[in-house]
Order: sequence, then C-alpha cells, then structure tokens
Amino acid sequence: MKKRHHNRIQRYSAPERINHWIVAFCFVLAALSGLGFFFPSFNWLMHVLGTPQLARILHPFVGVIMFVAFLLMFFRYWKYNFVDREDVIWAKNIHKVIQNEEVGDIGRYNLGQKCVFWAAIASLVLLLASGVVIWRPYFAGAFPVPVIRLALLVHSVAAVGLIIVIMVHVYAALWVKGSITAMVEGWVTTAWAKEHHPRWYRAVRARQTIKQEKRP
Ligand code: HEM
Repeated sequence: MKKRHHNRIQRYSAPERINHWIVAFCFVLAALSGLGFFFPSFNWLMHVLGTPQLARILHPFVGVIMFVAFLLMFFRYWKYNFVDREDVIWAKNIHKVIQNEEVGDIGRYNLGQKCVFWAAIASLVLLLASGVVIWRPYFAGAFPVPVIRLALLVHSVAAVGLIIVIMVHVYAALWVKGSITAMVEGWVTTAWAKEHHPRWYRAVRARQTIKQEKRP
C-alpha cells in the first residue's frame, strides 16, 4: 500500500515532470552541440550528438522536440505566470529576497520564475523561427542570403539569452532548498509551500477541504 505523508503536497504530476525533463534533456543537447558549432575551441562538444556530421543533422530536430515539449508546458502554466501586485512588492524587496527572506503573498510562482517562463517562450519562438530559415538542406535554400545572415544572428543571440536564463533557473532550483523534489518526485513539504508560495499553499489546502467535505 502507498505510504501517506501528511506533510507533503503534490506540486507536479508524473506527466508534467516527464514533460519538463524532456525539455531539459533536449536543451542540454541542443545548447552543447550549438556551442560546439559556434566556437572552434568548443568543436569537441559536437560529439554529444555522436559525430560532428550527426550533430549537424540532429541539432535542429532536437530543437524542434524541445520547442514542441515546451509548448505543452506553456499551455499548462501560462495562466499562473501573469505578474500581479504581490510580485511588485517582491521585486521592490529583492535585496531581502536574496538574503533568504520571503516578501509578498506569492502564488504558485514568484516573479523570478515568471520571468524565466516568459523569457523561455520568447527565446524558443525566436530560435524556432530563425532555425527554420538556416536549416540545411531542407529550408535554407528558400531564403535569400541576407535573410539567412539575419537569422543566424537572431539564432545566436536568442541561444545565448536562453542559456543564461536556464543557468539562472538551475541556480535558483538548487538554491531554494526543497525545490528539486518538486520536479523529480512531484512533491514539496508544507513548510516549503508556506514559506515560498503562501497563496498557492492556501489554495491547495482550500481545494483539499472541499474534496474532503464532498466525501460521503
Ligand atoms: C537543466 C536542468 C534543469 C533543472 C535542474 C530544472 C529544475 C526545475 C525545478 C526544480 C522546477 C520546479 C520549481 C518550482 O516548481 O517552484 C522547475 C520548473 C520549471 N522549469 Fe526547469 N529545470 C531545468 C531545465 C529547464 C529548461 C531547459 C527549461 C525551459 C527551456 C525549464 C523550464 C521550467 C519552467 C517553465 C518551470 C516552471 C517554473 C518556472 O517558470 O520557473 N527548465 N525546473
């Protein structure tokens, strides 16, 4: 029988976690192989996709899988990522936040997480659009050279932007103790929820109470 933990709250279902880790896995492969194409001193990184030749073929497909998988995350979470008044309080007190003090009645995500979310969808849209333009041998032939040059610039800038955003994201995930279990096993402690996402915690509790009252 499944053991019940009364001090745990479910934050992500199994499909949500699998979805997130597909995105993360594709991101690592695309980012490393892409850096391998870009900098001669990083050429050896192309081997994450087998051989340099294979990397040239696979990198765009890995990117498309990442985009489609992230789109599912986008449709799951966009409604939790609108900036509200509590986020403004959080941002104004960012000096306290970085000293581990919690400010504002934060919902499911804080402003930092909301910024990660919007930055990720924006850079992924740019990466996909510019990526199609420079995708040999399938689509690049259909575009004039100046458009391909512009697309290469957009692709590189968006890629560097996303890499920086994800470095911040991973740093925050490790820095806020108790966050990793949310995306690995699906649960957080009630203490974690109360401390970092108090408004979300109350909403979860309210839903649980309603469910219990409905039980015969
Ligand atoms: C590579 C290592 C990664 C690690 C260790 C990691 C870790 C995590 C963790 C622990 C959470 C749960 C946070 C919470 O619910 O409060 C999370 C959420 C999330 N992750 Fe990741 N992640 C990684 C990569 C990525 C990538 C590559 C993307 C997108 C391109 C991404 C997008 C998201 C989004 C959108 C959320 C929802 C919360 C937010 O907007 O920040 N993650 N991640």
